[in-house]
Amino acid sequence: MSAQAPVAPAPVEGAAPAATFEPVIIGFTCNWCSYRAADLAGTARTKYPPNVRLIRLMCSGRLDPTFVLKAFAEGADAVLVTGCHPGECHYIEQNYKALRRFQLLQRTIEALGIEPGRFQLVWASAAEGVRLANEIARVTEEVRALGPLNWPAGDIVDIDGVDLDAAWEATGGDAGEPPETPGGVNPDHAAAKLPAAEAAR
Ligand code: FES
Repeated sequence: MSAQAPVAPAPVEGAAPAATFEPVIIGFTCNWCSYRAADLAGTARTKYPPNVRLIRLMCSGRLDPTFVLKAFAEGADAVLVTGCHPGECHYIEQNYKALRRFQLLQRTIEALGIEPGRFQLVWASAAEGVRLANEIARVTEEVRALGPLNWPAGDIVDIDGVDLDAAWEATGGDAGEPPETPGGVNPDHAAAKLPAAEAAR
């Protein structure tokens, strides 16, 4: 008796198509660049997936690791951090600090069982609306392929004391527009490239 190839079941007529998984992505943006890039994308009607919920920080260096853990613990499937290109931070070197935190945190979340692809960092200037939109689309597709996270964080990390709203208020929040000329701009530094030691870390 010869083996027969399995026959795929015929689709049931009238059955609803399988729902596509829509990931929830929390995007931390820098006020001076990526937040404005997202704004520019919207103004230019450049579409990006609505899966990302943007939270504005004054600088990527303001990102506290607990913000990321709290986002995962409260149901995010991924976290995207965006900031000014290296050498262009309005607070001099804070995005290098963000980069170091990102790299450390990526190792931490991996150790906690979260795929590194669920935590990504993208640099985008205020003029790069299209680039940011494309990056958001790419991250969304990658996370969609990974599937839902459902991270059981409660037993692993104590993040109950973290209040994102309070943290946002502490940064100045929506209370008012930041000053016209942000402190710490260093024109010489603007042309600097990411030091090799930082890139290699
Ligand atoms: S990363 Fe944009 S101001 Fe620092």
